[in-house]
Formats: sequence, structure tokens, C-alpha cells
Amino acid sequence: MSIVSRLLNTSSGSSDAFEIVPMRRRHVKAILAIEERIYPKPWTAGVFNSEIDMARRDERHYVVGTVGAELVAYGGLMFAVDEAHITNIAVAPEFQRRGHARRLLLHLANVAVERGFSALTLEVRVSNTAAQAMYRQFGFAPAGVRQRYYENSEDALVMWVHDIDSPEYRARLDALAGVTS
Ligand SMILES: CC(C)(COP(=O)(O)OP(=O)(O)OC[C@H]1O[C@@H](n2cnc3c(N)ncnc32)[C@H](O)[C@@H]1OP(=O)(O)O)[C@@H](O)C(=O)NCCC(=O)NCCS
Repeated sequence: MSIVSRLLNTSSGSSDAFEIVPMRRRHVKAILAIEERIYPKPWTAGVFNSEIDMARRDERHYVVGTVGAELVAYGGLMFAVDEAHITNIAVAPEFQRRGHARRLLLHLANVAVERGFSALTLEVRVSNTAAQAMYRQFGFAPAGVRQRYYENSEDALVMWVHDIDSPEYRARLDALAGVTS
């Protein structure tokens, strides 16, 4: 792409350069640079490396999102017995509101479906209405509260979506893919 077309290719148009690839240890430095800007209690390199190791053993699934050479987003899944758990999903502040988190979540939901899970769950800060709005688009609904879950102070909303192996949920994911593409 030429410099001129890149400059013209702002806002939603630039999103077509977004690519999702498996998370590797070499990504952790760039991930931490984002993590430390967006979370009051960021994960450490040790946590990410350990999650990547578990992904190698197929106990997790972690990906990063890139725009050109830049790592701009990341997210992951933990596999439990009956459900998959969204562990993290984050987009660098200057790349937010371009549909990248929706693309990542679509990818993660598809992985969960392909692996035969019938439900997805996650925890989200009660104050994080932006993330909650996105999760609702994917059919997540509040199922409970974990009190003082974050920093022993803020409550977590526990959200679930069930029947992700149904044709109805396939149709929902396909519709979301249409919005994001
Ligand atoms: C939450 C987060 C991942 C969203 O990333 P994003 O790339 O900006 O989200 P998208 O552009 O894909 O938006 C998807 C949907 O999320 C919701 N959303 C995202 N940002 C929002 C905001 N600032 N206000 C309200 N709704 C918002 C909207 O429903 C949006 O759909 P729409 O564009 O049709 O309105 C991002 O704000 C982030 O990284 N926040 C810090 C980390 C975090 O809170 N992660 C979630 C932990 S549970």
C-alpha cells in the first residue's frame, strides 16, 4: 500500500490490515507495553509466558492482532471441562473503536465452537461498560457477581453465553463477522 493510500485509509478503512496470529514469547514485550497502559493491575511477563506455555500444551489459546508490523491487540482462552473462559482481551488505546476487539472475540468464539465447547464465560469489571457492551453483542449475559474480585475492591460481573454449538449461535457469529469484515 502506498503512503498516500495509507493516509487515506483511516478509521474503519484501516481495519482490513488487521491480522490475527498465535501469541509467542517474542510478542510479550509489546504486549506488556499495552497491558501496563490499560490495566490497573497488569499481568507480568511471567504470567504471559506461562500462558503461552499452556497454549503449547493445548490448555489455552492465545493470539495477537497486528496492523502492519505493529502489535495492537491480544486475547486468549482457557479451556475448562465444559466451557471455555475468555482470560484477556485488549486493544492498544490508539487502535480502539475500529472493530479489532470484536474481530479477536469472533476468532476466540470460533475456536471454542470448533473445539466442541457449548459455553463461554468471563469476568469483567462492573465499571467496564464498554467491554460489557461488546460481550452482549456476542450473547453474553450477566450470571452473577464476584465481590471485590479486582484489587480486593471492585466487583466482577460474571457473564456467560450458552449453546454456542447451536445453529443459532453460528448465525450470530456469521452476522458479527459480516459487521467486522
Ligand atoms: C474493551 C476493548 C477490548 C474494546 O476494544 P475495541 O477494539 O475498541 O472494541 P471494538 O471497536 O471492536 O468494539 C466492539 C464493541 O464494543 C463496544 N465498545 C467498545 N468500546 C466502547 C466504548 N468506548 N464505549 C462503549 N462501547 C464500546 C461497542 O459495543 C462496540 O460495538 P460497536 O462498534 O458496534 O458500537 C478495549 O476498550 C480495551 O482494550 N479496553 C481495556 C482492556 C479491557 O477492558 N478489556 C476487557 C477486559 S474484560
